[in-house]
Amino acid sequence: MPQLSFSFVEHAADAALPTLDDVPAIVLIDAVEPLSGVAAQIDEAGEGALATALKAAAVKPSWGSSTSFFALPGAPSGHLVVCMADAEKKGDDPEPNLMLGGKLSAQLGKHGAVALFAGAFSADDLAQVLSGMKLGAYRFERYKSKDTSADDAGEGDDAPEQAPQTVEVTVYTADVAAAEDAFAEADAVASGTLLARDLVNEPPNVLGPVEFAGVAEALGELDVDVTVLDGDQMAELGMNALLGVAQGSERPARLAIMQWNGGADGEKPVAIVGKGVVFDTGGISIKPAGGMEDMKGDMGGAACVVGLMHALAARKAKVNAVGVIGLVENMPDGKAQRPGDIVTSMAGKTIEIINTDAEGRLVLADALHYTRVTYEPKVMIDLATLTGAIMVALGQDHAGMFSNNDELAAQLHEAGQSSGEKVWRMPLGPAYNKLIESRFADMKNTGGRFAGSITAAEFLQRFVGDTPWAHLDVAGTAMSAPKSPLNASFGSGFGVRLLDRYIRTVHESAA
Ligand code: BES
Ligand code: MN
Ligand code: ZN
Repeated sequence: MPQLSFSFVEHAADAALPTLDDVPAIVLIDAVEPLSGVAAQIDEAGEGALATALKAAAVKPSWGSSTSFFALPGAPSGHLVVCMADAEKKGDDPEPNLMLGGKLSAQLGKHGAVALFAGAFSADDLAQVLSGMKLGAYRFERYKSKDTSADDAGEGDDAPEQAPQTVEVTVYTADVAAAEDAFAEADAVASGTLLARDLVNEPPNVLGPVEFAGVAEALGELDVDVTVLDGDQMAELGMNALLGVAQGSERPARLAIMQWNGGADGEKPVAIVGKGVVFDTGGISIKPAGGMEDMKGDMGGAACVVGLMHALAARKAKVNAVGVIGLVENMPDGKAQRPGDIVTSMAGKTIEIINTDAEGRLVLADALHYTRVTYEPKVMIDLATLTGAIMVALGQDHAGMFSNNDELAAQLHEAGQSSGEKVWRMPLGPAYNKLIESRFADMKNTGGRFAGSITAAEFLQRFVGDTPWAHLDVAGTAMSAPKSPLNASFGSGFGVRLLDRYIRTVHESAA
């Protein structure tokens, strides 16, 4: 995959170096001149060989760049990796340690084990480095057969070695207990991010609404209270907007509700709501064939909610949070919803369907209303791969943010800046709201060619009442985002680190 597994070994600053044979040793250094810490020890043991080699290699001083040396006198291993970690070269990246770890993950190569000498890193910074390694090393290879790679076909003994499934990372640090504590906290968030990625990457034949709800249910192991509503229960509640989307699919819809109560008794929860369209064909308003396979990622919002709930529970966050995800498949079929249909949402508002491909807002209309009336949350944030138009506006570097509350918008913007999962606020307003007025119903589900992301957000706003609310359109960021040191896969897990940061700074520090 490879999966990384970390263990921590006590290593005092001046202790003798272990002998590692062929296990690569990664040493983080803050300067080439003078060398300090483990690097100085290696240099001394090799009578200046490391300093000479570094000079000869003309290593780049840039943050996170690595250089390999082989069979270097004085080194604890035949393979020494020197990684530049000069605090002055951090630049303006909001998460330099995470990024350094991401870059380091490229050094893991085909090794089944590596040793990492953490140098002068604090426990918290080190935890971020290790999280970054874990994020950067992630690959989704569950469906690649082990023995059919083009290179080794028929080559018998010369077949290249299979990359290892797990890489054991042994971290040498002066304070094992502090490193372990800090890592456990950071790893909750990294693991939540990888869970979200797995869900987005999983093929749509494997992950339907029922299977997705099963993943939410598994959070019970972390003491999350999970309830799953089926089609009958949703029909009983009047969720006809959500159910209308699902009616063209053989696979029944689900609504999964995940509650984590780590905060004060009776404290109103923070609610996070996700669009979980396990596959979006467009329905009767069917999408063109090119690239349609990417629509397996149309549950990226819901995946983030599950990943976030995992993170909060795994690190025992001191907050009351509820995650609600609407899970449907949007298919064309004899029973499918038509353009022209009018459905009555749980809120009692009627919706004229103009385009069955504008299905996410229909799912969210009922999920948002249900969440608001059931939990009376102090804030409600939804995530949805809602519109292609958000990519036209913002590309893939920011998610679109829409909010009825300036304070919430500012807090989310700040969490985005500091986590690196950035959001950019977009406008709402009556002139846009007018565009979804319908001739026949209370509203229609599309607003024409202009301002597609904004009219989608206006639609959602009609279902949130006066609850402080923000909508994050993650169509450009949750899936198919450009590769980065922290993510090489289709699903990015976008939103888990952002909302973990938001909850941590806004809702936990006050408690
Ligand atoms: N799931 C799509 C939006 C999307 C597009 C997500 C590309 C990720 C990548 C959404 O359901 C959709 O189809 N939106 C339509 C809305 C239109 C019919 C008003 C769109 O963006 O074209
Ligand atoms: Mn659609
Ligand atoms: Zn969709």
